[in-house]
Amino acid sequence: MLKNRSVIDSMDLSVEEIDELFTLADDIKSRPNLYVNACEGKLMGTLFYEPSTRTRLSFASAMNRLGGRVVGFSDPSSSSVTKGESVADTARMVSAYCDIIVMRHPYEGAPRVASLYSEIPVINAGDGGHNHPTQTLTDLYTIHSVFGRTSHLKIAVCGDLKYGRTVHSLIKAMSRYEGTEFFLISPEELRIPYYLRQFMEEHNVKFTEVDTIEAVIAQADVLYMTRIQRERFFDDSEYERLKDVYVLDNEKMKAAKEDMIVMHPLPRVNEIDREVDYDPRARYFKQARYGMFIRMALILKLLEVGYQENHTRLTPTKYHCKNTRCITHFEKEPQQMLDMGGHHYKCLYCDYTVRIDE
Ligand code: NCD
Repeated sequence: MLKNRSVIDSMDLSVEEIDELFTLADDIKSRPNLYVNACEGKLMGTLFYEPSTRTRLSFASAMNRLGGRVVGFSDPSSSSVTKGESVADTARMVSAYCDIIVMRHPYEGAPRVASLYSEIPVINAGDGGHNHPTQTLTDLYTIHSVFGRTSHLKIAVCGDLKYGRTVHSLIKAMSRYEGTEFFLISPEELRIPYYLRQFMEEHNVKFTEVDTIEAVIAQADVLYMTRIQRERFFDDSEYERLKDVYVLDNEKMKAAKEDMIVMHPLPRVNEIDREVDYDPRARYFKQARYGMFIRMALILKLLEVGYQENHTRLTPTKYHCKNTRCITHFEKEPQQMLDMGGHHYKCLYCDYTVRIDE
């Protein structure tokens, strides 16, 4: 049951729960009139501490189409954040007003913190360069709708695999389906984080790291393009050097299978030439529409049951997270470094993994 649960990581939903969401989203898509009052009287709080167009509008459209209402902010400078309010306190306060929270935050792990203090479900709408589980639901639903399955697929993921949070959530979620194989296309500097490499190894997922689209496009069932995440770079000259490293155009598309699909979480910058938009294999704009239906399904499931008291009280662990982008570097959250065995410790909030020898 998804009732009253938070969705912070794509692994928070089981494969069966995701299947249930597909079925519900299909029904909403084909019989929208049945759902127009489904969330009447319910209120969604959208807390966007970082810019967003499609995700915020997608959630707001989803809630409005279910007959619910939306409050919130899209610019933290107009909220109490500027007075120094912590994420934990904001979550407690919004819990008292709303029925569900959707949060986007630049710090990795911030929505996890909110979920630990909130009395209502929290949905992570993107935390820094870490996770974006509802974009993954959108991606999975698109793949499922096109291929009729989510297993036995070769997925080529291209671009910023280091900071691209949609990529991180997608890799985790797809790793659970039988026969998934990844081609990871990125420059050396933008390879996937260590913890994801470990994750794929633990789940026996086949993956190959390559430098060019041409090396793998002919084999792929899905080509998942992403933009280079400018806002995550410490050095803008580094961004300038890497920004146009991949551009998908009609010439490269010639080598792709006829039933291959091109996906992109959007916004696009230069990584897909406009001419590709007219290729029937380009699915990125349809993908955005699927996102609204799957979010409607998710909201419905999470709101099945209302308010519950939350008495979480965390005891800090001995070690500290070393990721300077982690929420624990900015707010006084108790450290939660989980012992993964073999002297490895992983942060509960941001997944950053370190080896500590004593
Ligand atoms: C993505 C994001 O915010 O991570 N956008 C989105 O939610 N659709 C991708 C991106 O910004 O590159």
